[in-house]
Amino acid sequence: MAKQLFIKTFGCQMNEHDTEKIAGVLSNLGYSLTDSPDGADMIILNTCSVREKAEYKCYSDLGRLLELKKKNPDLVIGVGGCVAQQEGERIVQKAPYVDMVFGTDNISEIPKLLEKKKGQRKGAVSTERRKKGLVPQGGTDFISVPFPSMVRNHPVKAYVNIVDGCDKFCTYCVVPHTRGRERSRQPEDICHEIQGLASAGYKEVTLLGQNVDSYGKDTGGHTDLADLLHRINDIPGIMSIRFVTSHPADFGDRLINAMKRLPKVCEHLHLPLQSGSDTILERMKRNYTYPEYRDKIRRLREAIPDVAVTTDIITGFPGESAEDFDKTLEAIEEIQYDGIFAFKYSRRPYTSARLYGGQVPREVSEERLSQVLEIQDCITQEKNQACIGREFDILIEGESKKDKRNLTGRTRGNKIVHIPMEEGISIGAILRVRITSATLASLKGEVVRQGRGL
Ligand code: 5AD
Ligand code: SF4
Repeated sequence: MAKQLFIKTFGCQMNEHDTEKIAGVLSNLGYSLTDSPDGADMIILNTCSVREKAEYKCYSDLGRLLELKKKNPDLVIGVGGCVAQQEGERIVQKAPYVDMVFGTDNISEIPKLLEKKKGQRKGAVSTERRKKGLVPQGGTDFISVPFPSMVRNHPVKAYVNIVDGCDKFCTYCVVPHTRGRERSRQPEDICHEIQGLASAGYKEVTLLGQNVDSYGKDTGGHTDLADLLHRINDIPGIMSIRFVTSHPADFGDRLINAMKRLPKVCEHLHLPLQSGSDTILERMKRNYTYPEYRDKIRRLREAIPDVAVTTDIITGFPGESAEDFDKTLEAIEEIQYDGIFAFKYSRRPYTSARLYGGQVPREVSEERLSQVLEIQDCITQEKNQACIGREFDILIEGESKKDKRNLTGRTRGNKIVHIPMEEGISIGAILRVRITSATLASLKGEVVRQGRGL
């Protein structure tokens, strides 16, 4: 019988995608995924350190895993992701029952680590970063070639890494310190991977990078994101292309034009604003002002009137006054986002803002966070209600998790839509759906006809 592997994934889509790579490497060693830690032969925590208490959460989860290991001494425990990258050896010192620790560049070394662990008491650790353009000895260059094997967790939509790491060093963000400098994959390798996905029946790809607008800058700038989208748009079988995350300083007209011209590129942009105050944006080292940001959104909406725009907001960044925060609220009102991910600022290791004066009390950041969410809920509610009666093309992704009598898909603007299960509708179909009702979280609709591409 296959050995059972449980992976707990924290954080962003990049981490979700890394989990697919971890599962792929381990499937070659005879492991298959299970959705419960009880009875698993191996448990891996794929950690995230972007926000508060990540290290603490990791150690408290490990404490619970120790109980499972006491019951089953053969249980293998691994820690990967950004906390692993950041903490390295400290993890096996603090939690000596951990068998292996691997950084974000070391997933392909898992078999070697497991082998090494067999010969020693101490957990095996590898967090060595792959240098720009270099392949670690004996390792696999998973940035510039498709990862050898992946266990993808969805049958019709797939994540594809285009650029890893980040060079921006926003002053609150730990990512450049955990995932390292920007490394773009070759366009040929990306297209090859996507052709493979199309042949395997995938309909949608989401291109991933901490800053996708930087794509290609480190490899000579011959192919930027707009060029890459043109090439992917030509791949038969792929019906829908998304990309995250864009950066307001780099996002511009070339990408707007590509989004407008290319039929497969979805009309959705996730463009993190973080704050509406220019003083705070400068302290965050974001390299744009709010008027510049607003102008880019205006040009985008002029080109693509129906485009959905979403954002990230941080409340309580050091030095954020009541006036600064008001500017964030005004920006949210003015832009009218389709959705917001909002976070209260948390002090992260290695970042320069951790040393800034004017740290905002937790209660204040929390109160501001709830104000952001409250305002956005009203906007989202209104926007969702306005969808009632309209028709959208929906890619059917699968059964609804909450109600098995429904199917779930997304509009090109990334809104979740539930439709009643009907005979003859298959996962991966693109349907024309009329929206019949709306809540804050999702839309409900009925099939008008089978849509494009079928
Ligand atoms: N505190 C709060 N939010 C943060 N983010 C990144 N770092 C921090 C931090 N230290 C948020 C940003 C980013 C999103 C992925 O996480 O809004 O866009
Ligand atoms: Fe972090 Fe800024 Fe890079 Fe985004 S662009 S990953 S927020 S440093």
